[in-house]
Order: sequence, then C-alpha cells, then structure tokens
Amino acid sequence: MAGRMDGKKAVVVGAGQLPSKLTGIGRAISELFAHEGAEVCVVDYFLDRAEATVKAIVDAGGQAHAIAADVAEPSECTRLVHEAHRTMGRIDALVNNVATEEGDSDPLTLEVEGWQRVMDVNFRAMWLTCQAVIPLMQEQGGGTIVSTSSAGSRTGGGNLFAYGLSKAGVDAMTHKLAMAFAPWGIRCTSVLPAWVATQHSMDGLIQAGVVESEDQVEELARRSNPLGRFGTALDVAYAVLFLSSDESAHITGVSLPVDGGMLGTIGAYQRPRNAP
Ligand SMILES: NC(=O)c1ccc[n+]([C@@H]2O[C@H](COP(=O)([O-])OP(=O)(O)OC[C@H]3O[C@@H](n4cnc5c(N)ncnc54)[C@H](O)[C@@H]3O)[C@@H](O)[C@H]2O)c1
Repeated sequence: MAGRMDGKKAVVVGAGQLPSKLTGIGRAISELFAHEGAEVCVVDYFLDRAEATVKAIVDAGGQAHAIAADVAEPSECTRLVHEAHRTMGRIDALVNNVATEEGDSDPLTLEVEGWQRVMDVNFRAMWLTCQAVIPLMQEQGGGTIVSTSSAGSRTGGGNLFAYGLSKAGVDAMTHKLAMAFAPWGIRCTSVLPAWVATQHSMDGLIQAGVVESEDQVEELARRSNPLGRFGTALDVAYAVLFLSSDESAHITGVSLPVDGGMLGTIGAYQRPRNAP
C-alpha cells in the first residue's frame, strides 16, 4: 500500500527525543512521516537527541538524517535548511516545532530578556526557516510548511505571557505567508495543540504549580477539555501528516486546533495564581 508521504523529503525542526518515556511531538511527527514513506531530516539543538530519533526511524526501515542546529541563532536557521536541501536534494515539507518557555512570566513581572528569548526561539526562528525554505520551494514548484503553534495563542490568563504571544505571532505569520506564496503552490498552516502528554509539558505543569504531583495529572486531564484526556504526540503528528500530505492539497492559511475541543468551550479559564 502506498504511503501518505511517499517520495517526499521533509525537515522536522525540534525533533529530538528528550530522555523520557513520553514521546515528544517532533519525534512523533518524524517517525510518522518516515513510516508513511518520507525521507526525513531530523533537526535538534542536541545532536544526540536528533540521532536517537534517526535511529528509531532507521531501525523501523525508514530513511532519516540528523542535523544539529540552535534555532535561537539566526544564521543556524538558514544553515539547517540549506544542509537539509543539500542532503536530500529538495524539501517538500518543513515542520517548525521548536519552542521554549524559558524566562517567561506573567505580563507584569516578565523581563525583557525573557521576552526576547521566547520570541527569538518560538517566533523569529520559524520566520527565518521559512525565509530560507520558501525560495527553494518556489524553484521546485511548491511545498508545505506546518508550524506547531499552541492553544495558548488563543487562551487568556496563566503565566506564559510571551509564549502565548509568540504563538499568536506564529498563527498570524502562517496566514500571511500562505496568502503571499499560494501562487507558487506553497501551503502554510499551523496546528494548535492544547496539553499534550510529553515530558516537557508534564514537567511544566508541576513547575507552574498547576498540579502538585503526577498523581493529579489524570484528574486535570479529565477536566481540561470536552474529550476528557490530554492529547498525545501522535494525535498532533496525525494532524501535521494530513497538512503536509497531498490529502490537504486545497487547504492553506488555517490554524487547526488539536485540543480535544478545548478551544470550543469558550470559557475555560486559568485563574492567575496571585488573584484575590
Ligand atoms: N507538549 C504540549 O503540551 C504542547 C502544547 C501546545 C503546544 N506545544 C508545542 O509543541 C511543540 C513541541 O513540544 P514538545 O512538548 O513535544 O517539546 P519537546 O521539548 O519534547 O520537543 C522540542 C525539541 O526541540 C528541541 N529544541 C529546544 N530548543 C531548541 C533550539 N534552540 N534549537 C533547536 N532545537 C531545540 C529540544 O531539544 C526538543 O528535542 C512546541 O512548539 C510546543 O510549544 C506543546
């Protein structure tokens, strides 16, 4: 049976695996793409994390290459795209998946350094990889760009002020790029996961004081959205697969929630920790 990404060359940025039993979103996307027939460049800040994902793909019979790059550095964003292009000969699908909350806070205590770090990694880097890949896609006659945004781009409250704004920027950029480059057959979309059970987010829930221990996570998950469970990395990967494959050939400029219906509830509210 033909794979849904047969013949495609894909780059997934932020696709290493954290040392954890829970699969990260970028890794899940890379493995699914490879399973569906794509050749994948797996990019991560940590080479060993990228190599761990590549090994999993190659062990399963797929084709993948590891690239180390720090997307906080503007020149690295350009280099990683060109290295992937040199390695595979073309790039049909770019997935921007890196984000950080390092230094983030609420609107009144956030410091400029924290704001800048979050904006550079979550927003500027996605623009710069797009800036590098779009001319290549124009020349080859099309391609797809899917960026991992977050339901946090639309929700209010909480202590991740810069993170939410950076993701809102990603959604706005997605729409603008989609409109600008549709005539070249380049489709740009984003996905908006809500809470996904990755190690990164489980640690974050505890650090932010949303739950005190992992025992409370299940109850929180049940209440967090209408479908009553956290998402999995694979839930997000299947949405990205659809948006990167020819099955979504007539879709561009959209931001797709993958959130168990959370954004549909209009009213779920995270009360500030210091509220009276
Ligand atoms: N996990 C969730 O609950 C959740 C919810 C909404 C949105 N998201 C979004 O999904 C994406 C992935 O989240 P995840 O939980 O799977 O994270 P993750 O930490 O498991 O994966 C991100 C990868 O990016 C790499 N990375 C970090 N900084 C980098 C840098 N400067 N340069 C290159 N690589 C870097 C990390 O090494 C890691 O392997 C992020 O964009 C995040 O905002 C996650």
